Amino acid sequence: MTSSSVSTVHKIEDYSPCLWFTPKVHLRFDLDPHLTVVRADYEVKSNGTKISPLFLNGENLEFLSLRVNGRVVDPSEYKITDLGLELLEPPGEVFQLTVENRICPNQNTSLEGLYQSGSMLCTQNEPEGFRKIVYSIDRPDNMMQFTVTIAGDPSYFPVMLSNGNLKEEHPPVNGKRVVVWEDPYPKPTYLFALVAGELIETKDEFVTKSGRIVTLKIFVEKGNEEKVSFAFESLKQAMKWDEDTFGLEYDLDLFMIVAVEDFNMGAMENKGLNLFNAKLVLADKKSATDETFESIMAVIGHEYFHNWTGNRVTLRNWFNLTLKEGLTVFRDQWFTEDMTDPAVKRIKDILFLKEHQFPEDQGPMAHPIIPKSYTEMNNFYTVTVYEKGAEVIRLVSQILGREVFKKGLQDYLTRFDGQGVTFEEFISSMERAYGKPIPYIRNWYHRSGTPILNVKESFDQKNQEWVYQLKDYTDTNLPLVFVNSYAAFDSNGKLITENKRIQEGTLDEIRIKTPKDSESKPIVSFFRGMSSPVLLKSEMTKEEIRILAEHEPDGVSRFFSFQNLIFLWMSESLKDENKKENLTEVLEIIQSSFKKDWDKTYFSFYLTFPSLMQFCENLQFFDYKQVESLRKFAIQTISETFTKEFQFLYEENRKTIPKQSKDEIGKRRLKNTALYYLLHHPKKSFESLAISQQRDAKHMSEEIFALRSLIEIGSKEKDQAISLFYDHWKQDALVLDVWFAAQVATGENHISDLERLEKHTKFNLKNPNKVRSLYFSFARNPLSFHEQEGKGYVVIAERIKQLNGINPQIAAGLTKLFSQSSKQIGNLPRIAKRELEGIQNLPQISKDLGEVVGKIIKSL
Ligand code: TRP
Ligand code: ZN
Repeated sequence: MTSSSVSTVHKIEDYSPCLWFTPKVHLRFDLDPHLTVVRADYEVKSNGTKISPLFLNGENLEFLSLRVNGRVVDPSEYKITDLGLELLEPPGEVFQLTVENRICPNQNTSLEGLYQSGSMLCTQNEPEGFRKIVYSIDRPDNMMQFTVTIAGDPSYFPVMLSNGNLKEEHPPVNGKRVVVWEDPYPKPTYLFALVAGELIETKDEFVTKSGRIVTLKIFVEKGNEEKVSFAFESLKQAMKWDEDTFGLEYDLDLFMIVAVEDFNMGAMENKGLNLFNAKLVLADKKSATDETFESIMAVIGHEYFHNWTGNRVTLRNWFNLTLKEGLTVFRDQWFTEDMTDPAVKRIKDILFLKEHQFPEDQGPMAHPIIPKSYTEMNNFYTVTVYEKGAEVIRLVSQILGREVFKKGLQDYLTRFDGQGVTFEEFISSMERAYGKPIPYIRNWYHRSGTPILNVKESFDQKNQEWVYQLKDYTDTNLPLVFVNSYAAFDSNGKLITENKRIQEGTLDEIRIKTPKDSESKPIVSFFRGMSSPVLLKSEMTKEEIRILAEHEPDGVSRFFSFQNLIFLWMSESLKDENKKENLTEVLEIIQSSFKKDWDKTYFSFYLTFPSLMQFCENLQFFDYKQVESLRKFAIQTISETFTKEFQFLYEENRKTIPKQSKDEIGKRRLKNTALYYLLHHPKKSFESLAISQQRDAKHMSEEIFALRSLIEIGSKEKDQAISLFYDHWKQDALVLDVWFAAQVATGENHISDLERLEKHTKFNLKNPNKVRSLYFSFARNPLSFHEQEGKGYVVIAERIKQLNGINPQIAAGLTKLFSQSSKQIGNLPRIAKRELEGIQNLPQISKDLGEVVGKIIKSL
């Protein structure tokens, strides 16, 4: 067990500034995977108030020595606990403190602090990992200039990296080589990084707009050096984009990325030395899907953009995490919109928000994007802080307009450069650029739950106007500001009017004049492009929605209108099974879409039938099996009705070139969509198409989609397809992740598959990517996880208990998937409660897991 058993609740109102700072530090590492010695020399400075004891955080450290101003401190002058070290009587306002301790990287399975992954040692310090490396004031408002000396055996550690610039390099003495790194920019502990090991260096360069040459390096484990070119291209695009869009230039002469196999999340923005989950760096056409390529570009952008929004201007405390994450997600979304197709990118982001963030915000883990309190900060790297946080920044950008928003961001970055600030400083910069206050915007940061707006319509005889009242009835104590982009159409789908309106507070009224010649009432599309992250309750009829799904010129809103039409069909059919035959409007829309001349990727999204999860977010209590059988019924009907069209689409896009171009990506996606419908034909078999697509694939998007579909339809060829895929890819860990996932992600009765696959030689409980592929995919598949007798819960609870002792962060993440169990039918909530209580009673429960389990149990 690596995690401390002491749990304190941190409350936002208890925040107080540092009593002591350490503006300078010199770290020395004597590397050894078994036992690494770390020494820190701090320049300590009081905050100017009266001198009080100095507390340094430290967890799982073996204390060696403490000196103050060079003098060894007597044990009576300090206290050491599970949480750190307290120097009882500091000698003055300014002094030197040297502390030395030992750690065991190769026993650190939490992947936080200094740990071993494959043959390398690396660090992960956000949010509070640094205290597992050395005693320190481990909080983001304590910024320091780092000098880092690393000593290590050159046969194990030919490469030794840290932030900033390489200052010194000494030839080996007594079997140890020594390097010294120096980072000129002050930073908090969470941005510190160290990597050492047998790594292959790949290199490129970027010339900044002011003509400086920045050396770019990507370090990978041997054998992966051919898979970095896309990552380099993405990095250069991101650097260029930040210059073109915001005028932001990179500020060091070296930018490094390291690809790490064992990694808790996606990637980490350590100053000048980003660490990445290998799956978000390494790619080639054969082994990566189009989705993977796009994620690589987005995450490389995201981490790079943190250099300004996060690193140069950082956080005062962890409550304000969204200040860097919401803002940086918004920036990476904008980057991808500019690099690809903005409508398609927006559709993907809204789908993600609805599928992940809306449920979180309505479940037991709901919290404001600035949480009021936390026990374990790691539990708050959530879709609410990230994605809802980005939506609120998007709101600001829509209120100001993008050009004024850019000015606001420049003001923020100049004014607060080198400081740790809060969202208030960000908003104040935006208001300065805007020239006036943004009413109610701050409430978005303090209110949890998805706002639900009700639309009430009436007719004003006197003025011959239709009146729409929009009311946010979810929380009137904290009124919000909304951007409502809307458009009104007549019954032929002709645009009557469009506008962007800012709704200040809980109530707004929109008036639309009916055109003289038209008797019918207008059909209004509100919150186009999800101009505010809200749920809208309106009484629109299927026919009205159908008109929007066909005629709305805004591609994003057209797409979601079609989805709403399908959801309406589903809820009617759930109430009355006989209504399931009534797919007329859905079929009409598909029929008309074949005649449109849309971008291929857009068209493929439009045609993709919503997933089981997407249906369930829109319902209160539900029976997954029933929803799934209705869903399959619709897919089969669509397949039977449009067999010819899908065959044509398939053939037309069959031949593709394995290239990451917009057109080829679109072809692959459209062909796969057509294949999916064909495979669901109720009478004819098209399995041979999938089998040959897998066999002849030139791109992973083709190969994996064929395999997934064969598995999903329960084809009798599926076992063969699974082993064919395995034989093809057994040497590639990242592709095997996808292979593991495909076998449990759709369909039911996967407990025996899970038990078989976790015994597979390529499975590894200590590797988060493997755990995510198998356990998370199983638990995200409602048909297997929420299976009626609760067997899915029992299996996952058992794995969570095992993971608690290995990796508390991953264990807590897996537990969050129980959040939906209170909505399940029958005995499921009761079984979930029993299983979670079993976890809660673990003798050594980590604080990560304790906090999550406690919250979910309360909802059951
Ligand atoms: N700051 C990282 C990001 O860019 C997220 C992060 C937090 C992280 N903790 C981590 C990444 C642990 C990897 C491991 O979003
Ligand atoms: Zn981030």
